[in-house]
Amino acid sequence: MPERYPNLFSPVKIGSVTLKNRVVLAAMGGTNLVNYEGDYNPNVRDYYLARAKGNVGLFIPGVTFVTTGGWLYYKEDQFLGPIKDLMDEIHAYGSKLFFQLGAGFGRAAHVQRGDLEKPSARAGLVSASDGMPNVWMPEIKHRGLTLDEIHEYVDAYGKCALMCKKAGIDGVEIHAIHEGYTLDQFAVAATNHRTDEYGGSLENRFRFVTEIIREIKRTCGADYPVMVRYSVASKMRGFNKGALPGEAYEEFGRSMEESPAAARLLVAAGADALDADNGSYDSWWWAHPPVYMPLHCNFPEVAYIKQFVDVPVFCAGRMEDPAFAEKVLAAGEIDGITVGRQFLADPEWLNKAREGREADIRPCIACHNGCFPVGGIPKPGHGGYPEAHCALNPITLEERNWVLTPAETKKRVAVVGGGVGGMECARLLTMRGHSVTLFEKTGKLGGAFIAAAAPDFKEKDKQLLAWYRHQLETLQVDVRLHTEADAGTVKDYDEVVVATGATPRKLKLPGLDDARVVEAIEYLNGIKPVGQNVVIVGGGLTGVEIAYDLARKGKKPAIVEMLPDILQVPGLCAANSNMLREIIRYYGIPVYANTALAGTTEEGGFHVRVREKDASVETLLAADSCILSVGYVPQRSLAEALTAGGFDPARVHVIGDANAVGNLMSVIHEAYALSYRL
Ligand SMILES: Cc1cc2nc3c(=O)[nH]c(=O)nc-3n(C[C@H](O)[C@H](O)[C@H](O)COP(=O)(O)O)c2cc1C
Repeated sequence: MPERYPNLFSPVKIGSVTLKNRVVLAAMGGTNLVNYEGDYNPNVRDYYLARAKGNVGLFIPGVTFVTTGGWLYYKEDQFLGPIKDLMDEIHAYGSKLFFQLGAGFGRAAHVQRGDLEKPSARAGLVSASDGMPNVWMPEIKHRGLTLDEIHEYVDAYGKCALMCKKAGIDGVEIHAIHEGYTLDQFAVAATNHRTDEYGGSLENRFRFVTEIIREIKRTCGADYPVMVRYSVASKMRGFNKGALPGEAYEEFGRSMEESPAAARLLVAAGADALDADNGSYDSWWWAHPPVYMPLHCNFPEVAYIKQFVDVPVFCAGRMEDPAFAEKVLAAGEIDGITVGRQFLADPEWLNKAREGREADIRPCIACHNGCFPVGGIPKPGHGGYPEAHCALNPITLEERNWVLTPAETKKRVAVVGGGVGGMECARLLTMRGHSVTLFEKTGKLGGAFIAAAAPDFKEKDKQLLAWYRHQLETLQVDVRLHTEADAGTVKDYDEVVVATGATPRKLKLPGLDDARVVEAIEYLNGIKPVGQNVVIVGGGLTGVEIAYDLARKGKKPAIVEMLPDILQVPGLCAANSNMLREIIRYYGIPVYANTALAGTTEEGGFHVRVREKDASVETLLAADSCILSVGYVPQRSLAEALTAGGFDPARVHVIGDANAVGNLMSVIHEAYALSYRL
């Protein structure tokens, strides 16, 4: 069979090392080979081997800071023991691995307010120069690294790289002139006000990183590959202010004008490849593109920078479309793609693409829910740090816990509700050998996720729905559309899965029965059109996404939120929420926080009545329509009817929103837990 993607699957050299193809598995925190104590992380072995089978050309584990282990330069026994063994296993697949060595967060450090009392914690808040504001708490200022500290870092990089070389690791990646980490803070004039040899001119600002590159070459030899993680442009409008795609702005960080000379400095110092994208913590959505960012969002800038260097340039950021990759590789615009999250969602996606089985690829929907719930309100039981789990694929980094085995007793299972939870159960239960009937009352599978996937920027969500439908078709699951199952329908099954979802919460306020008041789901599903001026009640994720959708369509949305702020969603990554806030700024969408809905009125034309917290009088917001996005109530009446009718409660399983309203991740993870158990 002719190769479908001949360029994507052609070898490329980075320094002295040849990669078998053009695909790098991006560094992702949570996939680190060693933890903060410098100990080997045994959890990652199966993760790596599954993706080595998946044909990765080059692995880059999540960043490990060279200070890990308190300047011990890592533990030799870990590197020369389990890591060396893992390298042999990875090499057996023809894949390579570069260890990512980092110099720390600098002003992007996550600090706990309580810790700031401790002098040691305060002293640890470093950056390129004094007075740099912390990203998360700008009122906290960081100090500049001392010269001794800089030299110690350079030394540590050389020693750590040598340890990697001894362990059979194929090369290192320097983290990072990228995303606003410590080294990048030195590199960018706005965050480096030093007056010594590490500040001022471009050469001086790049002295720290170029010394590191040279030190690694000194300790490991000139032919030991060094790749540099590089942000072509910072996309910053200021501290904690980022630019949106297509927006005209003045660059506060590294500009497109400065970037070619900067890239050349890296290469002149010995960098063998650039692993490039855009962004900074202040414009986080470029380096960590959420669903609102276009596909291959960083490609134009990365392709531009390639013209100025004579080493391979890889591009990261939603680059998982093999046809696009093939096209730009064939044109010589970049040399390879760096792909992260798509490998979390589907370790086999690359092989599937190569074999022409695109419809079988479970797409990454760029939600960041499982892999990167960082910087926002922590999820319960979660410290808010990356864990590289996947919302769509619970197996990722839990490979040992999720081994799909045939069911011991094959049963007849009724799954009621064809949303994502129901489809996931039907898929997994069928794969385990159960005989499954899936009942869906509408004419379409997808449930509430059809509405969530409706906006035009939710292309991947629509692909996910298509993936589920295709899997059920391939598995020949007995799907009964237009069938509202009641207790009578399912009473003869061995087990019943109730995945009936949730219904919109009804508010009892005057004027909400007006035809101009519509539910979020009715708007998204195109059941009820809305006018030009739209008041959205509820500033959670759905409400804000609807505002974006309306603004893109040229309408004038406004958001009313009862809480002191919008987007108060546990586990929502700051890359997603910060981008949405910039979108609100860009489109000038008014936000009424701390404000509750009081109803609607016809007086002087249609108005939405709202009242600010503690205010005695109402405000009238003129509108053509009002969209209610105020949450959902679990719909589990079938379970109640079944048990009331004498069906054994142990054989009724309520999952997903029918159990407790959650999100895609909670629904899918519950579906896995149940389906592996039954
Ligand atoms: C969970 C997670 C952790 C990450 N950690 C790192 C890291 O340690 N070092 C790094 O350079 N980039 C890190 N990144 C950025 C990725 O390498 C990658 O550039 C980004 O996810 C965009 O690529 P994608 O759209 O293919 O996922 C991380 C991304 C994720 C999702």
